Amino acid sequence: MTESLAGQNIVVLGGTAGIGLAVARQALEAGAAVTVTGRDAARLSGALDALPGAKGQAFDADDPEALADFFAALDRPVDHVFVSAGGPYYGHLADLDPRQAGEAIGKSLELMIRLAQLVPPLSRPGGSITLMSGTGSKHPAPGLTVIGATVASRTAAAANLALEIGPVRMNLIAAGFVDTPLSARLLGDGLDARRRQLRETLPVHRVIEASDVADLALHLMANTAVTGVVYDLDGGQQLLPAVEA
Ligand SMILES: NC(=O)c1ccc[n+]([C@@H]2O[C@H](COP(=O)([O-])OP(=O)(O)OC[C@H]3O[C@@H](n4cnc5c(N)ncnc54)[C@H](OP(=O)(O)O)[C@@H]3O)[C@@H](O)[C@H]2O)c1
Repeated sequence: MTESLAGQNIVVLGGTAGIGLAVARQALEAGAAVTVTGRDAARLSGALDALPGAKGQAFDADDPEALADFFAALDRPVDHVFVSAGGPYYGHLADLDPRQAGEAIGKSLELMIRLAQLVPPLSRPGGSITLMSGTGSKHPAPGLTVIGATVASRTAAAANLALEIGPVRMNLIAAGFVDTPLSARLLGDGLDARRRQLRETLPVHRVIEASDVADLALHLMANTAVTGVVYDLDGGQQLLPAVEA
């Protein structure tokens, strides 16, 4: 069953830029009450200017106390939580700090477990938690060890946690390249060349935008039959030969 999001409370952790900002914008357009978060207060203020009617709070989603305090203070029910906070950890073996690598994987899993504990008591049947994942590490390649392990652990955790948090749901969106501030930071001067290459090589002949991911995110919130799964959204990027990180 697909439910209307009008009047529902939607939280976007990491909603001040990129994919999260697009999700917040579309959730408002769907008539939801939206709360966005991000670490940087100035970026949050800019995002709230662009999201009329939304509320917001600045804190680090990886700070357990701040996360618990944030959810404890929210209006209830919390119908849907979308998680865009976080970023990829790339690195060739010679450059990897084993401790940092383990911490990156652990931090990602920790956030999922914390949300699975915090959100369901505030939610109602059909509520959902949707997190970002990736398709970029589906082909093993030098430099993808940590991101590959993070994606694998997210996939396993979503399926297993979904069993325990029902009737609230948990799903993942695995994206390839999405044209966001994060991609711009990672690619620097190479951004336009990468966009061009993707237009030429992707089966869809265009670059995937944050709004494409937001379309799917809102569907996963509204479709109460979907839980414990990963939806790939990469314009067919995973069908192409791997690109080294
Ligand atoms: N872009 C891609 O190609 C792509 C592909 C696959 C997966 N993803 C994943 O999708 C997610 C969103 O990507 P994006 O490209 O939209 O990134 P982005 O443009 O950098 O936006 C990330 C958003 O999350 C916030 N954020 C980051 N870390 C946070 C934290 N610890 N606590 C609270 N807020 C945090 C950022 O604000 P502050 O910096 O102010 O906190 C910002 O609002 C990331 O997890 C990324 O790894 C992206």
